[in-house]
Amino acid sequence: MKPAQGSTLRATGLHRLFLRKSVAQMQVEQAKGELKRSLSALNLISLGIGCIIGTGIFVLTGRAAAEFAGPGITISFVITGTLCAFVALCYAELAAALPVSGSAYSYSYASMGEIAAWVMGLLLVLEYGLAASTVAVGWSGYFVSLLKDIGIHIPPALTAAPGVAIKEAGVVVATGIVNLPAILVVATVTTLLVIGVSESAKVNNIIVIVKVSVVIAFIAIGMFYVNTDNWTPMIPAEIPPPPEGTPRGFWPDIWRALIDVVTANNTSRYGIGGLIGGAATIFFAYIGFEAVSTAGAESKNPARDMPIGILGSLLICTVLYILTSAVLVGIVPYTELNDPAPIAKAVNMIGLPWFAVVVKIGAIAGLSSVVLVLLYGQTRIFYTMASDGMLPPALARVHPKFRTPWINTLIVGVCATGAAGFTSLESLSNLTNVGSLAAFAIVCITVLYLRHTSPDMKRPFRAPFSPVTPVIGALMCLFLLMSLMSHAATRNFFLIYLAVGIGVYFAYGIRHSKLAKGEG
Ligand code: ALA
Repeated sequence: MKPAQGSTLRATGLHRLFLRKSVAQMQVEQAKGELKRSLSALNLISLGIGCIIGTGIFVLTGRAAAEFAGPGITISFVITGTLCAFVALCYAELAAALPVSGSAYSYSYASMGEIAAWVMGLLLVLEYGLAASTVAVGWSGYFVSLLKDIGIHIPPALTAAPGVAIKEAGVVVATGIVNLPAILVVATVTTLLVIGVSESAKVNNIIVIVKVSVVIAFIAIGMFYVNTDNWTPMIPAEIPPPPEGTPRGFWPDIWRALIDVVTANNTSRYGIGGLIGGAATIFFAYIGFEAVSTAGAESKNPARDMPIGILGSLLICTVLYILTSAVLVGIVPYTELNDPAPIAKAVNMIGLPWFAVVVKIGAIAGLSSVVLVLLYGQTRIFYTMASDGMLPPALARVHPKFRTPWINTLIVGVCATGAAGFTSLESLSNLTNVGSLAAFAIVCITVLYLRHTSPDMKRPFRAPFSPVTPVIGALMCLFLLMSLMSHAATRNFFLIYLAVGIGVYFAYGIRHSKLAKGEG
């Protein structure tokens, strides 16, 4: 069905689902938004790196190497970096053509229509809100480790979600009850956001310099301590899931691994299946380059600088990640890497305790800013959706003194605090990954859709080799998504969440949408 564009008539029936905002309408709303266009290309690259480098590289790399990929985690980083490059080219095309603050939600509203925008909103809750809780759990690991260094011991049961086994030197010492430090960081950041202390470009630049310096120092110092024996075998022999257990030859292995992935059965450890499982896990490390597109309305020259910001931040982080992961598995045997603070563990192993403290402080500062940016992003997405009438107006209400959407921020903060305190890192990161991969796939499809339906739209940047680039981007996202769907808990939660979320649209959003009521 061809979507109705920027309708001023009350829409009826099925047409409502496919109503879309016109590009001109979005530009008018943006012009009324009074945001200052002050961000340069360098600020945008810094914004991207600020959101990208976090729990993914500082924590999840260790688990992905220990449980899935072994030393091949470096190859996993190459696979996921390539996938993100395809997606980033698509984001760059849309962000340069539609420099608005709602990012993927707004792109969907302007292309495939209201129901697609709503589904995108649901996915963005996972990509931003749940990601903030995930990063908070990573923060907790480094915080607890730093406190231990200065002689403060928090009871282990209060540092992990219920049911999570806490190990010390490979031995289980307790089972988690609640992750108090993770609750602390989300609650603090929520308070800052309510009273209006969102990060300024200057503070972000400083934190990015600290974070990138820690990562570069780890690579530069750590490479002298690499034991190349730890790199072999690069891809450890597969441990297939029961009941089969017989190893297969190389080619059949690849085919079987691919079939396992697309049928949501990829539960192998190591081997080709493990490489793909590792790539899906560390996908979390790359989330954030697309956050640059949310600053579209504040960029000085979005047509030129949006693609530079998105692609530049992704390129820099990809190179840093590949090198960091190679050094990490070169220092620590991969079987010992399932640790809440694996980079600090590597530094301890090479006998530089002072550097371990520097790494922990850098990680804590860096991860705090990621929590802040992600929670901020989540509140602004809800604000945009509430302004469109898709969510209750209270979520767009601004505090008279602090001038922040305080009700919205408190609701987001309380939910993120609960998730951080009571959910394991594995569940949180898997769900964030699934939501983000689905959102990225839709963004790639949006590029194809707009090329077809609006061929004359002004595009200052065009993803090269279309339709190949968006098609490969979307297929790679779906491929990794299917790998994560082999976890029953992730799959069930995701599908129930989407079903309930779509139900809420039919119960509320469809009846209150301003566009459908002709108020858009
Ligand atoms: N990419 C971000 C991180 O790894 C979200 O923390």
